[in-house]
Amino acid sequence: MSTTTKGTAGYDRRRELQAFDDTKAGVKGLVDASVTTIPPIFHHPPDSLATSSTATIPVIDLSGRRSEVVGEVRAATETVGFFQVVNHGVPADLLAEMLASVRRFHESPAEAKTPHYTRDLARKVRFNSNFDLFQSPAANWRDTLFCQALPDPPEPEELPAAVRGVLLEYGDAVRQLAVRVLELVSEAMGLAPDRLEKMGCADGLSVVSNYYPPCPQPHLTLGTSRHSDPAFLTVLLQDDMAGLQVLVDDDGEKRAVWADVPPVPGALVINVGDLLQLVSNGRLKSVEHRVVANRSRDRARISVAAFFNADLRQTTAVYGPIEEQVTSSAPPLYRSITVEEFLSHYDGKGLDGRPALDHFLLP
Ligand code: OGA
Ligand code: NI
Repeated sequence: MSTTTKGTAGYDRRRELQAFDDTKAGVKGLVDASVTTIPPIFHHPPDSLATSSTATIPVIDLSGRRSEVVGEVRAATETVGFFQVVNHGVPADLLAEMLASVRRFHESPAEAKTPHYTRDLARKVRFNSNFDLFQSPAANWRDTLFCQALPDPPEPEELPAAVRGVLLEYGDAVRQLAVRVLELVSEAMGLAPDRLEKMGCADGLSVVSNYYPPCPQPHLTLGTSRHSDPAFLTVLLQDDMAGLQVLVDDDGEKRAVWADVPPVPGALVINVGDLLQLVSNGRLKSVEHRVVANRSRDRARISVAAFFNADLRQTTAVYGPIEEQVTSSAPPLYRSITVEEFLSHYDGKGLDGRPALDHFLLP
């Protein structure tokens, strides 16, 4: 879809997007202005997939026996691509403080937020609504504070005051967990435990703090469009409001359905990203997911996604299927690429419902 052509009845989508972006107030600004009908830029085509009442996302207790934990991680990463973890070692008060600070930022007055509003990818700290506003076919009912936390964290002054004392500390804690999970995943793949970490899969970290305001017409839009994650691994902290859904195969019915990822107090959600699917030669699954628009009348939903990636300054490092994962019966599925190449394809495309990894399939 072109974002420059006029649609029906002379409606100029490009101009509407620009006017919305120029407010620098995000979706929260529309809600504060008490809109009762959502602007057409947020309208999504209806989705025909059913929601499963039976499919479940596994919950893995990381304090269990290692061989059992590895088996559970293998089963989850090779099928649904998602699991929740408990006894993960990130202190409960740090989780609570992180969520509270994200709320504090998004609910602070305009003058505290607009200076951070930008689409300049050179800035390590960026507040905006819809990173892909001008690329995607439909906007999402969500605002986001993005922080490139590793390998080279921002100066504390670059961070909004509301999150300054907690965001980088949270990043460090969640990185320790990610390294532990990468060890389990390496073992599950039959590799030495430190293999994925040594490849640099957790050298880069983006902390993406999402705010999903209540939506007056939730059936017409989404909180986050269907997508898979542009990372090796994602660790997601969600508050106590549901909304995250994962695409799963409905047993017996041979069709895809949405499965809720219900909030589990104290848990973190982990999922395989596109780059882990690539290096595992398709064995581990980077599964599409979405967030439905917030149906609550008065409470925003908050989530914090920690995306683990390679160090983007190492521009020549290439990632392709790990040689031990390639056999005569499992020939390489993907070509080798730099992470930069992958991310520029992902960002240029926007959340358009097509898997970004398909672009790199070998013929
Ligand atoms: C994401 C994502 C889920 C959520 O940021 O990639 O899938 O619950 N977020 O916000
Ligand atoms: Ni995601």
